[in-house]
Amino acid sequence: MKPTTPRREFTRRRKRLFELMDEKSIAIIPTAPERIRNRDIFHRYRPDSDFFYLTGFAEPEAVAVLVPGRPQGEYLMFCRERDPEREQWDGARAGLEGVCNKYDADDAFPIGDIDDIVPGLMENRTRVFHAMGYYSDFDQRVMEWVKRVRYQSRAGGGTPHEFVGLDHLIHEQRLYKSTAELRIMREAARISVAAHQRLMSVCKPEMMEFELEAEFTHECMRQGSRAPAYPSIVAGGTNACVLHYIDNTEPLKDGDLVLIDAGAEYGCYASDITRTFPVNGRFSEEQKALYEVVLESQLAAIAAVQPGNNWNDPHVAAVEVLTRGLVDLGLLKGKVPKLIDKGAYRQFYVHRTGHWMGMDVHDVGDYKIDGQWRMLEPGMVTTIEPGLYVSQDDKSVEKKWRGIGIRIEDDVVVTDQGHEVLTDAVAKSVSDVEAAVGATLVA
Ligand code: GLY
Ligand code: MN
Ligand code: MN
Repeated sequence: MKPTTPRREFTRRRKRLFELMDEKSIAIIPTAPERIRNRDIFHRYRPDSDFFYLTGFAEPEAVAVLVPGRPQGEYLMFCRERDPEREQWDGARAGLEGVCNKYDADDAFPIGDIDDIVPGLMENRTRVFHAMGYYSDFDQRVMEWVKRVRYQSRAGGGTPHEFVGLDHLIHEQRLYKSTAELRIMREAARISVAAHQRLMSVCKPEMMEFELEAEFTHECMRQGSRAPAYPSIVAGGTNACVLHYIDNTEPLKDGDLVLIDAGAEYGCYASDITRTFPVNGRFSEEQKALYEVVLESQLAAIAAVQPGNNWNDPHVAAVEVLTRGLVDLGLLKGKVPKLIDKGAYRQFYVHRTGHWMGMDVHDVGDYKIDGQWRMLEPGMVTTIEPGLYVSQDDKSVEKKWRGIGIRIEDDVVVTDQGHEVLTDAVAKSVSDVEAAVGATLVA
């Protein structure tokens, strides 16, 4: 059975939000708008992560409203009504009855009636829980509703005057992944692992970068993911030094490395893997030397993912190994501690070593609390992704190093005991990578 989030878990998430509210509060949670790609063609729809996290409802044009203490029902959904004609064009809708029966809403209303109904629900409620600044058109509507209640209220019980950033409250919940979420994330990771293995297996000189991208998407879909979690990066040779290279339009050259940063989305959860391997299956001496440094730094950073360590500890561990390695290879000169203090490694490593991951690939959750790096706790999921990128134009290093870009990335869960790496089944050591490129996959 494929993992899914049980209905009771959505109820539990809403309950935790209700616990932060009182009968003077109302929460308004819109899903994402549909986005036009060009003219009358839309991008494939993806619900807002916070909205989906609380409701499990994936249709567009929906707004969840929580009204604690409302006798006729506290959890309301505004959504599209059933419409056989529209459904023939665009597919089935849950409708008002469906969101009550299948998604546990206490009450449901047509989305077209929201402007008439929400101001009434706001009466006598002084605190509005809403995540501002994500969808400006929607923010504008919330303001209009507040204005209307202010001018129309005759009840005398108070009008909305306090706004609470709902995003922060939901994001604190989302940072700690439940058992059900981790099952889904393991599935996303499993699919991505299979897809990366496929790329190593099929890669050959003169293939186009986008052919590997197609292989990745193909394998993700074949394995049950509807789409990658973000545009895949397939960067041959010096393109790997462009951190978010997504053109993927060049041929892969014999003798170059290719950096693949790609991950499947499954059940609205991301995975995020990077592997860098030789297009022809054999590392050159310089590629191998730099690769070994990045790999050692990645393993050191993964080892630092432990409850009780802080968010920055893996980065510190990675930087230490990278700097030492760069000195050993002669790309940096000086004493390691001093070079670290000065940040000399930034010539070759400009990004940080990871980010939270979950429903969003760059997931929500604060990295610092009161100015201090946050402690790692069980249930948090982070990527670990150090790299080295030697610019083609960097005249300060010998020519033989120039144009090499390497990143190695895995997804790591903080556990009670230490950590679990979700994605390490993709070849990573030099010998495993060399063996995997061009090898026949055992199905
Ligand atoms: N795939 C984007 C990242 O690794 O952050
Ligand atoms: Mn990545
Ligand atoms: Mn990443």
